[in-house]
Amino acid sequence: MNALEYDRSHVWHPYASLKDPPPVRLAAGAEGVEIVLADGRRLVDAVSSWWCVAHGHNHPAIVSAIRKQCGSLCHVMFGGFTHAPAVELAERLASIAPPGMDKVFFADSGSISVEVAVKMAIQYQQAKGRPSRGKMVALKGGYHGDTACAMALSDPDGMHVLFRGMMPRHHFVSKPDWAFDSARCAGDVPPASFAEWEEELERLVDAHEGEIAGMICEPVFQAANAMNFYRPEYLDAMRRVCDAHDLVLVFDEIAAGFHRTGPLWAHSRAGAAPDVMCVGKALTGGHITLAATIASSAVADVISRGDVGAFMHGPTYMANPLACAAANASLELFSNGDYAAKVARIEGELREGLAPLAAIPNVKGVRVLGAAGVVEVERLPKRADIDRVIDETGVWLRPFANFVYAMPPLVTDSATVRRIADAVARVAALPPGPECHGDFHE
Ligand SMILES: Cc1ncc(COP(=O)(O)O)c(C=O)c1O
Repeated sequence: MNALEYDRSHVWHPYASLKDPPPVRLAAGAEGVEIVLADGRRLVDAVSSWWCVAHGHNHPAIVSAIRKQCGSLCHVMFGGFTHAPAVELAERLASIAPPGMDKVFFADSGSISVEVAVKMAIQYQQAKGRPSRGKMVALKGGYHGDTACAMALSDPDGMHVLFRGMMPRHHFVSKPDWAFDSARCAGDVPPASFAEWEEELERLVDAHEGEIAGMICEPVFQAANAMNFYRPEYLDAMRRVCDAHDLVLVFDEIAAGFHRTGPLWAHSRAGAAPDVMCVGKALTGGHITLAATIASSAVADVISRGDVGAFMHGPTYMANPLACAAANASLELFSNGDYAAKVARIEGELREGLAPLAAIPNVKGVRVLGAAGVVEVERLPKRADIDRVIDETGVWLRPFANFVYAMPPLVTDSATVRRIADAVARVAALPPGPECHGDFHE
């Protein structure tokens, strides 16, 4: 049995069945913006391997940092030990996080960093003598990960409905519908729906204040459940309500952070800063898993002064030195690379390439923000047709739900962005398939 045959019958892939699973390709290497297949073919990674490969695959600086770290310390438990890569990374994160956010908890994945953020909100309220405050407010259309607590904060009618029975019930406000378009915003008058949304949020929190610990959202870009770009004004409204009720405001920057939407942090377009922020994905440039939950000193102080004092979380691989070394190299690249300008260029090119697709009958809408271009279709084409376009164009796309999208590495050159836009256009122009073919997430 060759590798692909064994894989097909024994290895689960994300959101896939083992009975007649969708085909997978055998990756043998990767370089720059391309994935190299075992048969030598190359595919442009137009989804940055689920949005994390910001600087390109196998970036020499990141690979060399991991190699160097291997020579001294691959892992040590973080209970009772610390190490230089973790301390350096905490300092780096504190220096780029909003002012006053300088307490860092390292987590092994984005989902775990969200769980940690929620635990911080709950321990904050407990330390303030409010043990009944154990729920969060989240946004419909959101996505925060696949672990239990993160699922419970994601769109209640989205991809996790199957697990409703075991999930804690949080409170949800409507999906933000005042769309954000960086090309035209100044002078916009808020639609009536925005004032209604603010009222809905206030009413909800007024009615349930005694049980709410905090609020969480993906700032400006609701990614894996909705591909929705929304106005930063919503973040200011959330900040105002959190301040009025002493709630912990969590911004999940896992998808939107590190310049994906333009600025380093998506939320920096608003006046509002969070109390707790989750980062992941591009933190290591997509080379090894690592995330972090960054808290303000104010929140950390309250937690630390509470009856328990200790913050109650501690994964085995917390602050893995190899991952921290990769992240330090990645952050060094971000600090020297003028990524805001790179992303502004990609945004213009995606806009130019995708805008004409709005005229295709199966297309419901086209939107672009930063290095993310989304074509919303009535129904996705058949999987086999999409695969054919991928093979013919040499551009790897992973449409899901009713979205054909591109989120290329932030270092993708102009000619390659054009190739990507052409491939998206070809997929969008395919005949719609019989029904949603069950792809979820990213
Ligand atoms: C906004 C957001 N939060 C959390 C997560 C979960 O991160 P991970 O897949 O690393 O657990 C994702 C993943 O797509 C995400 O987009």
